Amino acid sequence: MNVENRGDKTPKEQENLIKEIERLKKEKKAVVLAHYYQRPEIQDVADHIGDSLALARYASTLKDVDIIVLCGVHFMGETAKILCPDKKVLIPDMEAGCSLADSCDAEEFKNFIEKYPGHTVISYVNTSVGVKALTDVLVTSGNAVRIVETFPKDQKIIFGPDRNLGNYINSITGRNMVLWDGACHVHEQFSTEKLIELKKEHPGAKVLVHPECKKSLRLLADKIGSTAALLDYARNDDAKEFIVVTESGILHELKKQCPDKSFIAAPPEEAGCACNECSYMKLNTLEKLYRCLRDETPEITVDDKVAEAARRPIEKMLELS
Ligand code: 13P
Ligand code: SF4
Repeated sequence: MNVENRGDKTPKEQENLIKEIERLKKEKKAVVLAHYYQRPEIQDVADHIGDSLALARYASTLKDVDIIVLCGVHFMGETAKILCPDKKVLIPDMEAGCSLADSCDAEEFKNFIEKYPGHTVISYVNTSVGVKALTDVLVTSGNAVRIVETFPKDQKIIFGPDRNLGNYINSITGRNMVLWDGACHVHEQFSTEKLIELKKEHPGAKVLVHPECKKSLRLLADKIGSTAALLDYARNDDAKEFIVVTESGILHELKKQCPDKSFIAAPPEEAGCACNECSYMKLNTLEKLYRCLRDETPEITVDDKVAEAARRPIEKMLELS
């Protein structure tokens, strides 16, 4: 297996860690799922990598597996646990949260919904189980437009928590969904001015933008889509150069899938910062993945009653997408 070494371990140490991870996976009938924003070395040892929709879909089909290690953020682990209540779901670092999910408190969301009677509640999957339990149908960035379009044009809809994704869906579908005012701290900080400059420097480059980015960036995009949709586009498009406006972890898979193309990470507002990295996603390391498989902790648990209420909108999403 060809695993990228980022230099914090000697090649021998990394090799041993990977051998141990592989041994533990077999011994414990464990499967490792990783999001595209994970560190390259974690993506390389995962059994399956994907966007949040693919990870949920994959978890829902797993058979003959006792343990799922979700290398991603907490809400992704919760989704896997809700879909697979009989399996042990682990996450290498329990602190791997999500600023977008944190921007929507369940109690406040409940009060918000009460102000709009007769509205269907559609939520992005980047939410706590409490918010999911208040939701009619969940979406990911990979299926949001498709799912919203399954509702009649005149259906009143509340969408939470991401105002940028909600705005994007409204613009594509002609809906006027009521939006919760939340956002992701990584996607909010890309600089429109610097992207314009970068486009001038690379006139042939196509611009790939995640829909969690603000409108001024989306207007400069050749493709707006989930991480998986951006990968598909880069693979199938004739351009040789792409500017990538999303979390920089995706560059690893982009380079792997398109070795003859080049990818430029879009610059954040603040020069020299690493703010196009999701600090939560990057909390998971190879070492923590090894320890988590060895000790079977930290484990994601979800209260049965809340899980029951949250399962319905997740299953509805999988049914509609
Ligand atoms: P995807 O649905 O594209 O995987 O995005 C998840 C996410 O957390 C984006 O910030
Ligand atoms: Fe959450 Fe943003 Fe990190 Fe995605 S990139 S997990 S939305 S904080």
